[in-house]
Amino acid sequence: MPSHSFDSRLTCNGNGHMDPEIDWENVGFGMTPTDYMYVMKCSDDDEFDKGQFLPYGNIELSPAAGVLNYGQGLFEGMKAMRREDGKIVLFRPHENALRMKIGAERMCMPSPSADLFVDAVKKTVLANKRWIPPTGKGTLYIRPLLLGTGPILGLSPAPEYTFIIYASPVGNYFKEGSAPLNLYVEEEFHRAFRGGAGGVKSITNYAPALKPLTMAKSRGFSDVLYLDSVHKKYVEEVSSCNIFIVKDNVISTPPTKGSILPGITRKSIIEIARDQGYQVEERLIEVEELLEADEVFCTGTAVVVNPVGSITYQDKRVEYQIDENGVYKKMFSTYMAIQNGHIEDKNEWIVEIN
Ligand code: COI
Repeated sequence: MPSHSFDSRLTCNGNGHMDPEIDWENVGFGMTPTDYMYVMKCSDDDEFDKGQFLPYGNIELSPAAGVLNYGQGLFEGMKAMRREDGKIVLFRPHENALRMKIGAERMCMPSPSADLFVDAVKKTVLANKRWIPPTGKGTLYIRPLLLGTGPILGLSPAPEYTFIIYASPVGNYFKEGSAPLNLYVEEEFHRAFRGGAGGVKSITNYAPALKPLTMAKSRGFSDVLYLDSVHKKYVEEVSSCNIFIVKDNVISTPPTKGSILPGITRKSIIEIARDQGYQVEERLIEVEELLEADEVFCTGTAVVVNPVGSITYQDKRVEYQIDENGVYKKMFSTYMAIQNGHIEDKNEWIVEIN
């Protein structure tokens, strides 16, 4: 591994180590370059090479790279957390590895084995350890990428793939922090469609969301809530996260049948809720049901578990009260308590890395 070079964002912490000079109170969800990235290549024989750590920085790509021309690429999002007991932990990293495998199959790419993926993630976190925020001040966001980097002119799978992992310290995803979100139900644009790539974490799912997202943000909304592209009446997901509604103590979320991302936070919340005795339904949710819901909340790695304060659909705006004893609060606090080590991790979701 190359030695650390001088970086003006670092100060000495008195132990001979350099601490990042970051205002941890205001870190937000942005890219702060860290020390190292992991890079592993795979050529025609579908075998990945040994992989190496390089100083975080630009990569060189052929202008004919499959990812640049035809969008052959996947990404994952994960977080490493520094707990008050001193442990550095990941949350269900094998789930990300498996999701990337499924996505790679859909996008005609080879993928690293789950063990290789998790091992590389752990090493990337350790290589960038000093960038993990202090307890309670945020997390180290980890971004594994699988890209078709070989040159290809005709529409075909690329002849070479690169698996990269980089990391950045982050805080809250939304500028609202953990305050309730204001969502806008989008009717003209769709995020995904049956048979497309909406059910995997393809990079191609995200750029088309920028226009409706930018328009909604310019009108003061936090994010866009998409409807299905066939009937234009069933709730799908938000640009950056999954959605849940609560009515009469029954929790519902749209089913992951191809056009909805199978979120790992989504899956965990379903499991936590069922474990706590809630009825959880994965079913089609008509947009009108939002207007009658008692609570609405969103889940995602970046977003965590975030309450929704209002939804605007056509000319109607419905507001939700955040009940201190409500379902959202219970889900959020249980999810965080498992990660923080405050309650038993009976499903072995937490993976320690130090
Ligand atoms: C995540 O939650 O990790 C994501 O990948 C969503 C992205 C829009 C930040």
